[in-house]
Amino acid sequence: MDTFGKLWLSPMESVSDLGFRTLCYQHGASLTFTEMVRASALVQGNKATLSLVDTYTSSVKTGLQLLVSKKEILQKAMAVIKEGIEIKDGRFSNISVIDLNFGCPSPMIINLGQGPALLKRTVKMKELLTTLQKESPLPCGIKIRLGLNEIEKKQKVYLKVIEIANDIGLDYVIVHSKTVAGASMAPIDWKALQEIISKAKIPIVGNGLVVDGPSAKKMLDIGCSAVMIARAAVANPWVFEEIESYLMTGKKNPNAKTATDYMKAWNTYKNIADKYGTKNKFYEYHKKMFELRMQGDMKYHSPSRTLKWV
Ligand SMILES: Cc1cc2nc3c(=O)[nH]c(=O)nc-3n(C[C@H](O)[C@H](O)[C@H](O)COP(=O)(O)O)c2cc1C
Repeated sequence: MDTFGKLWLSPMESVSDLGFRTLCYQHGASLTFTEMVRASALVQGNKATLSLVDTYTSSVKTGLQLLVSKKEILQKAMAVIKEGIEIKDGRFSNISVIDLNFGCPSPMIINLGQGPALLKRTVKMKELLTTLQKESPLPCGIKIRLGLNEIEKKQKVYLKVIEIANDIGLDYVIVHSKTVAGASMAPIDWKALQEIISKAKIPIVGNGLVVDGPSAKKMLDIGCSAVMIARAAVANPWVFEEIESYLMTGKKNPNAKTATDYMKAWNTYKNIADKYGTKNKFYEYHKKMFELRMQGDMKYHSPSRTLKWV
């Protein structure tokens, strides 16, 4: 996974379109991800879903994240992706990685037995991950949590998943080191993350509350191969180069961004969003965020009124 570097931008619903991924990539993100895409809708050729697959430019390394719970659908989704790559369909041409989501906290998804509800289902996980590894035309991995709740965490369902990933030889596992029930700003579970790293024979990517150089270094120092960043990048797409500089010099970046920096970043985003016709939800969210930044509001604001991802 060396080719994908150490500083990954998280998949984020209503945030991670090509414009935002480009901005983060230009400022040091080494790998980025689309928001979670439902594999069944992709297979059905659903237009709204297809528009989320937007890897038009080769200059931004992007993983496509899928939500899938059935082997047959995964096989079909892989066929769609392979065809897209073969016929040089611009949306699919530049996918670098295929990722499966096992962390989405949506009650609707969990009640359907999808996403993190699958973590404890060893047989099903094995079947899905074997299919992923066999059918994926690209490097592939998964994003997990520690379980649905404290009970599953105590049962260490996550270690079973790591065992399967080891046996299959996935390219990586991203660990959001919390349960689904865990509070958004509660600290991550360092002990579980360390336990995972000690058992893993494949690269582990740490995720959760990485916001600056010191928090990224802490995760890399315990043995994560890379860190994945979500909310901190929304407030600050420069966070990746700030971390990179900290890792090299041990010094935090003292320079606060100016209104001109935000204006420049917004223009970069807008040009790409306009050129590739991004979905309105992305455009409106980033427009609002950049306006707030220019007014000095650096807080994280969720793009969704309905689903709290963290
Ligand atoms: C607005 C938003 C949307 C998200 N969408 C996704 C998603 O599509 N797929 C996914 O795996 N995680 C998603 N997440 C979770 C993040 O990828 C990440 O795991 C979580 O925010 C913890 O990282 P952080 O502490 O750096 O924010 C989302 C998070 C946020 C805040």
